[in-house]
Amino acid sequence: MEHETLEQVVTRARLAPSMLADQLERRFTWRGPFAGDTPQLYGWTRKDTQLVLDAPTRDWLAHLNDRASFEIMRGGPFRRELLSWMRLRDDHPRAPSDGLSRRALGLGKGRARLVPWQLGPLWPVMNALGRAKSLTAEAEMTRTAPVIACFHRPVTESPVETGRAYLRLCLEATHLGFAGWPMAALSDHPAAREEIEGRLAIDPDDRLVQVIRFGVPMGDPPPRARRPLSELIP
Ligand SMILES: Cc1cc2nc3c(=O)[nH]c(=O)nc-3n(C[C@H](O)[C@H](O)[C@H](O)COP(=O)(O)O)c2cc1C
Repeated sequence: MEHETLEQVVTRARLAPSMLADQLERRFTWRGPFAGDTPQLYGWTRKDTQLVLDAPTRDWLAHLNDRASFEIMRGGPFRRELLSWMRLRDDHPRAPSDGLSRRALGLGKGRARLVPWQLGPLWPVMNALGRAKSLTAEAEMTRTAPVIACFHRPVTESPVETGRAYLRLCLEATHLGFAGWPMAALSDHPAAREEIEGRLAIDPDDRLVQVIRFGVPMGDPPPRARRPLSELIP
């Protein structure tokens, strides 16, 4: 049996579920560059997560993410739904309540105005000219993330249990001073998911649920969009 180091025991105690509630308000998604320093993990480990730290594997995941994202983005209904969740104008009536705000997406006002055109009527033209790929490409930014976490859970587990474990993973990362940026395409795209499960030798009883970049963000959190409690519990 493998023995834990003292550092791992201390980290496990500091990351106990009861200690994580304070991190809820601090957690946020960061869609931008991460600081280049070596990540301070203090012996952080989880049985359900492979923390990818080596540059070649992170690079491979970054490119696979771009390929999978582009394939998913080629679907018109997907682009329409994505657009419906974007709050590209600051005065959008639902901007304070939900969706992806311009600032959360890291877009300037001018660039944000173009997005409905680029993901809408201009997409086929841009695609024909080979320009659509660069619209969805994130590899350069992904490479700045010092940690890429591949989160896997038993195939038979209830989604509620899986979601609870995922939130804990995110709160643990917050506790260590990291922000997260999911790469949902890698687990949504069946071929990409299988490639990762194979290369990382993920237990065949588990499935890859999410891949998420972690690191120290190089900027401030964007304003929060949160539904008022009265909307959730009328
Ligand atoms: C299962 C899951 C998958 C997600 N996938 C992505 C993703 O692929 N790309 C992304 O930018 N954000 C992704 N997100 C992040 C959400 O868009 C984000 O949590 C939401 O905008 C709320 O912002 P916050 O995390 O700052 O509170 C994902 C979140 C969850 C729970």
